[in-house]
Amino acid sequence: MDNRVYIFDTTLRDGEQVPGCQLNTVEKIQVAKALEGLGVDVIEAGFPISSPGDFNSVVEISKAVTWPTICALTRAVQKDIDVAVDSLKYAKHKRIHTGIGTSDSHILYKFRSNREEIIERAVRAVKYARQYVDEVEFYAEDAGRTDNEYLARVVEAVIKAGATVVNIPDTTGYCLPDEYGAKIKYLMEHVDGIDKAIISTHCHNDLGMATANTMSGLLNGARQCEVTINGVGERAGNTALEEIAMILKCHTDIDLCTNINTTRIAPVSRMVSSLMNMPVQANKAIVGRNAFAHSSGIHQDGVLKQASTYEIIDPKDVGLDDNNIVLTARSGHAALRYRLEVLGIKVDDSKLEKLYEAFLKLADQKKQVNDDDLLMLAGAERVADRHIVLEYLQVTSGKGLKPVASIGLSIAGEKFEAAASGNGPVDAAINALKNIIKRKMTIKEFTIQSITKGSDDTGKVHMQVEHDGKLYFGFGADTDIVTASVEAFVDCVNKFGNR
Ligand code: KIV
Ligand code: ZN
Repeated sequence: MDNRVYIFDTTLRDGEQVPGCQLNTVEKIQVAKALEGLGVDVIEAGFPISSPGDFNSVVEISKAVTWPTICALTRAVQKDIDVAVDSLKYAKHKRIHTGIGTSDSHILYKFRSNREEIIERAVRAVKYARQYVDEVEFYAEDAGRTDNEYLARVVEAVIKAGATVVNIPDTTGYCLPDEYGAKIKYLMEHVDGIDKAIISTHCHNDLGMATANTMSGLLNGARQCEVTINGVGERAGNTALEEIAMILKCHTDIDLCTNINTTRIAPVSRMVSSLMNMPVQANKAIVGRNAFAHSSGIHQDGVLKQASTYEIIDPKDVGLDDNNIVLTARSGHAALRYRLEVLGIKVDDSKLEKLYEAFLKLADQKKQVNDDDLLMLAGAERVADRHIVLEYLQVTSGKGLKPVASIGLSIAGEKFEAAASGNGPVDAAINALKNIIKRKMTIKEFTIQSITKGSDDTGKVHMQVEHDGKLYFGFGADTDIVTASVEAFVDCVNKFGNR
């Protein structure tokens, strides 16, 4: 059996379904090009029938990317397939990913149908898609909870109908590694014509087993795996691309290989985290801030004598350079541009100028500006083009004092000012803002995170505000956490009416 594993990246489809992580088309193109540089084989660019934005992203990514296959998701519905075919018209290599739920629960409750009818619908969709494209991938949604005998019948039927790849998703993240591996093995041994298609894994991480399940699938015959950068995805996310790529690189005993240029992993991980406003947990395997940080004395001593004592991965293999230059107020444009590029952020001259100004301001406040600060600045710059802008904020608070805030906003160029008190400085500032923007708005979630460690650090605030029955996600960053909170609130308000 071939030992090449195809990497199917679904950061821009399954990954992007996470509330608050939505990217615009320009950002999606940026990610798609980074994925191409990383060496992924297939980019799932979107679900074109779901929205004009998704359709447009598939069109633009198809134009921008050369080597990877561009894949568009559909339901097993002709109209979906027609729209997907249209969206892929500029792709050099194209694939339709169509499918239907196959577990009894999906058949009974979602489709109110029966097993035979589901096979007919699956076959019809695959045959229809094959009229337009040479690569058709079929997904058996909730395959993880589908009875193996019936699943084998579905897989056999769709391969006969022309499917070139068959995806076996553990949609709910329920399977145990042995169970998922046994499912793939069962299909490899019981499906007539299995050699005519590639079997794909697609695992979710609800029970923390996505990577283990994917590996079990690969060890039992699957040769494609569906993954996302940083494991982003709905609920607990999908299998993380970087984990599979590094497992296969480290475990030469397994004899499976990918086309991934692992030295691009860290920059792509940071780019996705920054564009999606989705922090990577510090102890995340491969890409977490602490993934290579040895803090115990015994480990430090060992690593200094010989890195392999406690390190199974050379940090350089995932693109972490030793040259972690810390920028200061004396650093110039060239150093800033270089560092941004290392982080996977390409900027033109005018953007660089704006970022440089913001960088100097921060460097004055912080002395040393690190990579996380730069990612934050690049993120803040993206939302700079706004209708409502926080002009100033003054807050008085302290032990024994009632917090009071006064605020100045510019709304479409016009100046507004207000003051208010509250039960804390953030509450006072938000109340002052609400005295200017008199709409019904409720904060639903509010998280403050410091980027590094010092008391001069930048604070990042993620906020969800409910307005008119809809949730809006906002982000703010500043060395003053009250300002960061108000910036996050303003970011939400700027999005009202845009969805
Ligand atoms: O998890 C899942 O089942 C999916 C399919 C649509 C492929 O994402
Ligand atoms: Zn999924």
